[in-house]
Amino acid sequence: MTLLITGATGFIGRHVCAQLTRDQHQICAVLRQPQTQLPVLREQVEALGGAGDCVHAVKGDLDLPGLGLPDHLPAPDAIIHLGARFAWQLDRQTAYRTNVAGSLAVAALARHHKCRLVFISGFMLENTAHLHRLGIRSDDPEQVDWQRVYRRAGGYEASKLEAAIRVRALAARQGLDMIEVQPATVGGHSVTGALDNTQPLFALLDNLVRGRMAMVPGSPAHWLPLVAVDHLAKLIALAATTDNAPPRLLALDPATPNLRGLLAIAAGALGRRAPRHHLPLSILAALLRIPGMPRLMNTWPEALHFIQQTRFDTSVTEAFKQNMRLSSPPVEDVITASARWYQAYVGNTKPTTSAAR
Ligand SMILES: NC(=O)c1ccc[n+]([C@@H]2O[C@H](COP(=O)([O-])OP(=O)(O)OC[C@H]3O[C@@H](n4cnc5c(N)ncnc54)[C@H](OP(=O)(O)O)[C@@H]3O)[C@@H](O)[C@H]2O)c1
Repeated sequence: MTLLITGATGFIGRHVCAQLTRDQHQICAVLRQPQTQLPVLREQVEALGGAGDCVHAVKGDLDLPGLGLPDHLPAPDAIIHLGARFAWQLDRQTAYRTNVAGSLAVAALARHHKCRLVFISGFMLENTAHLHRLGIRSDDPEQVDWQRVYRRAGGYEASKLEAAIRVRALAARQGLDMIEVQPATVGGHSVTGALDNTQPLFALLDNLVRGRMAMVPGSPAHWLPLVAVDHLAKLIALAATTDNAPPRLLALDPATPNLRGLLAIAAGALGRRAPRHHLPLSILAALLRIPGMPRLMNTWPEALHFIQQTRFDTSVTEAFKQNMRLSSPPVEDVITASARWYQAYVGNTKPTTSAAR
């Protein structure tokens, strides 16, 4: 198959390219700077066990009308949409342009080529109580007060929610073959632990090591669900290439321990003392409202939403995985490998600060 991919150079995208090209699928990556980005991406794909020469590129940008793509693009068999601005403190306009308008343009492209769209949203779309708290009570995007959602959730999360709800509505209206993959917070590779320093889990490990995590945010019921990046990539590849995938795949390991347990496993791997006492999220959120605090604590208030108490129904995804003979790597191994990789990375490069998101 030929798969058009946005966000191919990103943390998840690289693994998806490696996974698909291992099976000899051809990739057409939508890149903003193909001349410089394609050679690097090919090398990364090779290093991950994929076939770099199966990766090709076309110049495009989610921020441009029609994605800035050439007029006569060969029709792909499926489109995987991973590209997004993924950062805290995004202003609404910027977040909307890339994450919402960009997603709608990708959906229009899938419609134009009459091909499947594999749309990457996020696991918070399955947290109904959270959506209600934000004011999202309808599947109709016109019934939602988006200004309020952006104010409460911040630019990144709000734009991801708006994109998913608008693309779902468009897909339903136009009969688009769409599969939505909803990842939890993405962990490192299940064996090597490799994790980009821009990933939220990297920031968490960094905070643990630098003593910014003396207490566990939330209560014993709070958790930060994880999924290993290589496992997620396999799921996304299956969503794009098999006929029997369900319309929504929740990529989340329900066996992820509570946050205290996660930090204890990571601290063990890092040779650090694990925090034992809890700090209620309301107090942490209040602290983070003090100017300068988020930077000092390397934690942004909007990131706290992802630490929550809700448990999710993963039965549909688990049945599909079983059908496809895909089993999750043990989550303790993913946490341990990610922590060891973080330690080796910091030991080698001594970054002054982790990316704050
Ligand atoms: N990582 C997680 O924990 C997580 C969890 C849930 C959902 N997700 C979703 O998964 C997707 C991928 O995440 P990731 O962790 O791989 O993110 P990432 O490492 O930050 O990668 C983002 C990708 O988007 C591309 N991109 C950004 N702006 C673009 C634009 N204007 N035009 C074209 N491409 C653009 C980037 O290209 P450049 O290389 O050119 O910058 C990069 O390839 C996102 O949609 C994210 O919301 C991630």
